[in-house]
Amino acid sequence: MLYVDHAATTPVRPGVAEAIAPFLGDRFGNPSGIHDVSRQAKDALEEARERVAAVLGCQPLEVVFTGGGTEADNLALKGAALAGGRRGGVVTVATEHEAVLESAHFLERMGCPVVILGVDEMGRVRPEEIVSEITEETAVVSVMWANNETGVIQPIGEIADAVRSVNPAVRVHSDAVQAMVSEDVTSEAVDLLTVAGHKVGGPKGVGVLVVRDGTSLEPVVHGGGQELGRRSGTHNVAGAVGMAKALELAVADRERFRRDVGEARRRFEETVGAKVSGVESNAPPDRRLVQHSHIRIPGIRNETVLIRLDRMGVAASAGSACQSGAASPSHVLTAMGLSPEAGRECLRFTFGWTTEPTDGDRLAEAVVEAVG
Ligand SMILES: Cc1ncc(COP(=O)(O)O)c(C=O)c1O
Repeated sequence: MLYVDHAATTPVRPGVAEAIAPFLGDRFGNPSGIHDVSRQAKDALEEARERVAAVLGCQPLEVVFTGGGTEADNLALKGAALAGGRRGGVVTVATEHEAVLESAHFLERMGCPVVILGVDEMGRVRPEEIVSEITEETAVVSVMWANNETGVIQPIGEIADAVRSVNPAVRVHSDAVQAMVSEDVTSEAVDLLTVAGHKVGGPKGVGVLVVRDGTSLEPVVHGGGQELGRRSGTHNVAGAVGMAKALELAVADRERFRRDVGEARRRFEETVGAKVSGVESNAPPDRRLVQHSHIRIPGIRNETVLIRLDRMGVAASAGSACQSGAASPSHVLTAMGLSPEAGRECLRFTFGWTTEPTDGDRLAEAVVEAVG
């Protein structure tokens, strides 16, 4: 099998399952208790928090463990908007993940002023456009580090600086779920940062929201007051330990990852570009994630190609995992100005930590054959 859908999820890295195993076995304690069994779990949880903080460039108390990237995005937007009182406004972008967009739509239904900005034909948003939408009511600006479908990288540092220069009270959130594996993601640039375990080689169902000191958040999940009241619910100790391990492994492996994945993509795009006519890339060459190849093959329905690829043992997708199977074209491509028909001619190939440079050749051959 050739797996080129790493943006949907990536295999658990070697060492992660072993790190988790004790917490599904003898070290089963609830970290909120006071006896020794609990203390062992608490120690492991706090150590995981420290390790995650070291990777993300923040203080351990700024790390909030969540039930995944979706929940972290929900907490960032709803939490910051609801904590903003009268300033409950949100400014975000049409190509964000559904976790952000649906949170924004929810807040709008609750009466918060929400602005959803468009993008150019390559999916980019400009800092000036964001700044021009900031008003006295804006509580939070949310722009993803890199897009999960096309891989386009947004200028998040410039955006955060521009927002702060206009109004330092506005909180800046970035969803770095896809960028984390290959980009130098650090929470220093922003007030709120989302990361998810299963996109970096950790388990599913665990994520982190970095909440920088001084950023008030209204909790979204109420209950026993865990995570300093920011996210209630008995801790997923195994998930937190697995997330810490996976993040460390991903960062240590970044250079090799970039090299191998970059070479695989180069070979893939070169061969497909030479052998299939009219192939277009949907992301700017100088501002896209190294692991993403999002292409359009005019005149060829993506569904047909994907089914043929699947039969040939190649696992790829047309867009985000949430949308595969959906009849309507992706909201990301629509925002970039592609017609529904053109959107159905797009394919997303995403490489990952198991990719070898020769996989680019294998994939190209398979795509050329499937299209032929
Ligand atoms: C950019 C982005 N944000 C958020 C998520 C949601 O993360 P999770 O699957 O952990 O809920 C995803 C997953 O597809 C994603 O790609």
